[in-house]
Amino acid sequence: MTEWWKQAVVYQIYPRSFYDTNGDGIGDLQGIIEKLDYLKELGIDCIWISPVYDSPHDDNGYDIRDYRKIDKMFGTNEDMDRLLAEAHARGIKIVMDLVVNHTSDEHAWFVESRKSKDNPYRDFYFWKEPNPDGAPPNNWGSMFSGSAWEYDEKTGQYYLHYFTKKQPDLNWENEKVRKEVYDMMKFWMDKGVDGWRMDVIGSISKFLDFPDYELPKGQKYGIGKYHANGPRLHEFIQEMNREVLSKYDCMTVGEAIGSDVEIAKKYTGADRHELNMIFNFEHMDADTKPGSPAGKWALKPFNLVELKQTLSRWQYALSDTGWNALYFENHDQARVVSRWGNDTKYRVECAKAFATILHGLKGTPYVYQGEEIGMVNADLKLEEYDDVEIRNAYKELVLENQIMTEDEFLTAVRKKGRDNARTPMQWDDSPNAGFTTGTPWLKVNSRYPEINVAKALADPNSIFYYYQSLIKLRHTYDVFVDGRYELLLPDHPHLYVYTRENGSEKLLVAANISENTVSFEKPEGNWKLLLGNYDDTESSTLFRPYEAGIYYMEK
Ligand code: NOJ
Repeated sequence: MTEWWKQAVVYQIYPRSFYDTNGDGIGDLQGIIEKLDYLKELGIDCIWISPVYDSPHDDNGYDIRDYRKIDKMFGTNEDMDRLLAEAHARGIKIVMDLVVNHTSDEHAWFVESRKSKDNPYRDFYFWKEPNPDGAPPNNWGSMFSGSAWEYDEKTGQYYLHYFTKKQPDLNWENEKVRKEVYDMMKFWMDKGVDGWRMDVIGSISKFLDFPDYELPKGQKYGIGKYHANGPRLHEFIQEMNREVLSKYDCMTVGEAIGSDVEIAKKYTGADRHELNMIFNFEHMDADTKPGSPAGKWALKPFNLVELKQTLSRWQYALSDTGWNALYFENHDQARVVSRWGNDTKYRVECAKAFATILHGLKGTPYVYQGEEIGMVNADLKLEEYDDVEIRNAYKELVLENQIMTEDEFLTAVRKKGRDNARTPMQWDDSPNAGFTTGTPWLKVNSRYPEINVAKALADPNSIFYYYQSLIKLRHTYDVFVDGRYELLLPDHPHLYVYTRENGSEKLLVAANISENTVSFEKPEGNWKLLLGNYDDTESSTLFRPYEAGIYYMEK
């Protein structure tokens, strides 16, 4: 099998917010087809599409009712066939989202499963007796607040759901479940799908003794080590690889909560026959206070030294074995310029600086829709947020338990809430940013007249063309793909500087992630600038706010 994904840059589309062609306020597959030429111009190799399957959309499609049917909100199965054909005709691959830790509670399997204790589908999910006092079977929490167990009147038992109660967890111990999943994967791959992004794949194997968490006094539910990396995880993935993945020339990226570098080696080591790469979360915690009952909403200031340490740990660990997936943004993460940088005075420089850091690293870079034009966080009122995670957290943390004040919560949501990345794509300065002729399902960011694709395409210095150059560089110089990473100036509070080196070439990547001007001396060598974000970065020894450059030499 070829390793095309090592040279590739992947673009993630969140379909409901990408481009709406039928005026219902929600993006659709036809919208993706119409924008393929735009993506071709950007130069990406592959698109990952967040779920487009039939769903009641309790969690925006990550709750699937029918795995083999495209949701009518997005189009039809024929539209998907056309998208595959049109993308392939342009040399672009398509990766779909595989959401098999859980289904929707409206999936036929769960509808059957909840009917009776002896239903043939009962064992497709996890059902447990209540504790003697009627409480849930253990103190595991749902990622979206409250208990991970929901009581079902019909049979007097609880079922397990790591996410909303409309997302019951599948029981991977059951061979029939695994077979159904593998058949479904083949169904799409036989149509030409080029791979999978695997949703919370790290959680598919459960700790079957369901141990309680030890919790601080007053805390009812815990989320932690029992929510991922169960005893049969790698066995299941190896089986999936044997049964399905190994039979296709495909790309796989697993979303792996609770993974560290040692776990990553297990997932991605070539000799293990599991996945190509994983999304880890360690670097995204650079602004989270650990151990707080407020979870991800407990903010701490962004710290560049910590980000460098974490990214470097992953670069070094996966240098000879495995492979990294590189990202700052996706549909679950906020816009990086707003979250960790400057989204006003230095927005353009800042977006380019973060892109420089990420695209210089070893691994496969992911660009999330709108990142390539420097889109910024949403400017919504509390009641305008749509995301089930935000709504549930507000109820639990502010209303029920007073762990945060409303102001504190809103500040955290404005920084890190998932809807920051889900506002519609800004195509031009016409009403609703040209995303829809109807009413968008989520309010368009009010800065769209300033930040939009049409404007970016008309400006040779735009963030868009900077991304285009970064992608071209990766396609041109092998050292971007195979060069060994070395971090320089590890303790510098503002500069992120590293080298990449193979047998014949060397790269120097440098970025000032701050609003200060700092001195920067290149290491000895005959460096030539490949790309910079100020006109005279080639000769600059004082790096201005968010100045960044990539330098090259042959050895
Ligand atoms: C991770 C997905 O990226 C997120 O959007 C979703 O809510 C959960 N998994 C549950 O499927």
